[in-house]
Amino acid sequence: MAGRVAAVELIGRKRDGDELTADEIRALIAAYLADEVDDAQVASLLMAGVIRGFTTAEAVAFTEALIDSGDVIDLSDLVGPTVDKHSTGGVGDGTSLVVGPILAAAGCQVAKLSGRGLGHTGGTLDKLESIPGFRVDLAPEELRDQVASLGLAIAAATAELVPADKRLYALRDVTGTVASPALIASSIMSKKLAGGASHVLLDVKVGDGAFLPDAEEARHLAELCVSIGRSKGRRTGALVTDMSQPLADGIGNALEVGVAIEVLQGERHDRYSELCAELASAALQLTGVDQAEARTRVDELLRSGAALERFRDLVRAQGGDPAVADDPWGVLPRAPVIVDWSPGEGTIRSIACRRIGELAGRLGAGRQRQGDTIDPAVGLELLARVGDQVTAEQPVVRIHARSEDDAAMAREVLGGLFERTSQPVLPVPLVHARIGLDDPAGPQGDAALSAG
Ligand code: URA
Repeated sequence: MAGRVAAVELIGRKRDGDELTADEIRALIAAYLADEVDDAQVASLLMAGVIRGFTTAEAVAFTEALIDSGDVIDLSDLVGPTVDKHSTGGVGDGTSLVVGPILAAAGCQVAKLSGRGLGHTGGTLDKLESIPGFRVDLAPEELRDQVASLGLAIAAATAELVPADKRLYALRDVTGTVASPALIASSIMSKKLAGGASHVLLDVKVGDGAFLPDAEEARHLAELCVSIGRSKGRRTGALVTDMSQPLADGIGNALEVGVAIEVLQGERHDRYSELCAELASAALQLTGVDQAEARTRVDELLRSGAALERFRDLVRAQGGDPAVADDPWGVLPRAPVIVDWSPGEGTIRSIACRRIGELAGRLGAGRQRQGDTIDPAVGLELLARVGDQVTAEQPVVRIHARSEDDAAMAREVLGGLFERTSQPVLPVPLVHARIGLDDPAGPQGDAALSAG
């Protein structure tokens, strides 16, 4: 890229609705990393693309340019299918904590590179760090060796893996340019492809607590991710799943780990455990197992305790206290103030999912600014869902707070987050769409013409 002048030209072309070439996108990203174009120029170009739409070819080009900015992990000599699973982000959405151990118990090799909480959503690394001693910073060789011996590792991506995404994401976060299917797909898929797995399952969230709340946009994002993965020769599929209300009963780091362990112990049968089983089955389907057979195997791995055993191995291998697998609430940190709250009698019509996630963040479960420290113990337990009829005395939220003041703040905020009705309300479906699972190898590069 010829520095500033070319960047200005590209911004103008994107503003006018032109498609940029792969070479232009690659040069732009390289110039950005070399500080030859500045944040304002890249943000302008991204905003023009958010408004005008990016094509599928542009999304693929962004993905390739991001991957080329750093290292890639080679898992090709591991025995067994290498599998990765990724959620686009939600509230009470700790499915990786359950799906990873199930897949490892099923004979897959799971090298999962996870992220931290973002905005109103939680992150797997923050959740796992609530287990005393648990380490998420594994060197690439350590990660590979652990996967080779246990079939499972969950760690932070190193600074060398897709560095351009880290920089671009931080810029998008503060310039209103996150909500673009093409930019989200390239951000996610660049990390999945660089992570080296040959099978990739996406859990694309839809509803108020998702980054793309609109159903059509979420479906489009899922199709785009599948198309990008396949164009790079990976078996890729997606489920589009509900995020119009929090998924698990626990929202907050230790609370989410505790609830995940209860699913692995076979003690919970709810929307969260059901989605974990559906995701694990879909991932097995990508490896060639028939859908019904996959679900039978997953249920058996949970029932027999084999998946719980893998979770215990994972915790031990990464320095955490393995007793957490038997006695989660005895090992995980607990908040000093725990109080119940109820919206009053009626049937729950809606729950403001995103604001529930934000409230857990304000209690200390998330970061208000980059670099903030997480409080692992605090958060919310959600004891009822949309469609449930509750009495005036029935606790619907259990607040886990660091202080009485925080608990009072939470009680006040919660008052505006639940809608009740005297009419019956239909439960919300959990899985909205299944994409690319019946034909996991699929035709290459088959996405719609416009990626948005
Ligand atoms: N998660 C990512 O990794 N990137 C995005 O752009 C959005 C969610």
